[in-house]
Amino acid sequence: MSPRLRLGVLGSGKGSNFVAIADAIRERNLPVEVALVISDVPDAGILQHAKDRGIAARFIEPGRFRTKLDEESEVAYTSALREAGVEWVALAGFMRILKGEFLRAFPGRVLNIHPSLLPSFPGLEAWRQALDYGVKVTGCTVHLVDQGIDTGPILAQRAVPVHPDDTPSTLHARIQQAEKLAYPAVIETIARSELRVRGRLTGGVPGNVTGL
Ligand code: GRF
Repeated sequence: MSPRLRLGVLGSGKGSNFVAIADAIRERNLPVEVALVISDVPDAGILQHAKDRGIAARFIEPGRFRTKLDEESEVAYTSALREAGVEWVALAGFMRILKGEFLRAFPGRVLNIHPSLLPSFPGLEAWRQALDYGVKVTGCTVHLVDQGIDTGPILAQRAVPVHPDDTPSTLHARIQQAEKLAYPAVIETIARSELRVRGRLTGGVPGNVTGL
């Protein structure tokens, strides 16, 4: 049997992507262990979901900035992940930008999920941006994190339609259904050593593009 992939998950919110990942690991018996969940929000739902599943979960102070970790916190986050033996990190609704030291600690091994078909609509509330722009198709993207904001190599994308009567919340809910398929598929591909990355060009993740 191949060794288990040790995954760390960072999130700030309710944790539906974490739940999808944890459930896929269990149901498909994937060779993955979520070694640690960290949140920058003390009462984030993601921490409770982890504890409910017997997975180590910690709130770690994010420091003095609003949109990123300060230097001290960055060290605290990377040390905690390293101590837990984490090899890959999945950002699952983590609302702070990670740069520099953190990315150097896990080179090419930090994943993010974004609620649009990148490179369209990077940044905040991508579902609202898509609705305001008037696109007829949007979706989600799982990508490697690089120094930019939502700019790293794309690993998986799933499309969803935009309906004429959509509100920001109905569209976001539809995108989140797609996210629950896309993120576990990427993690399964990594765990099976089937992910291929050459610069921006990547391959190996099944099920891309399929609409809901
Ligand atoms: C998701 O829509 C994700 O795309 C975005 O933040 C949301 C996180 O939701 N980055 P959850 O905490 O996984 O439920």
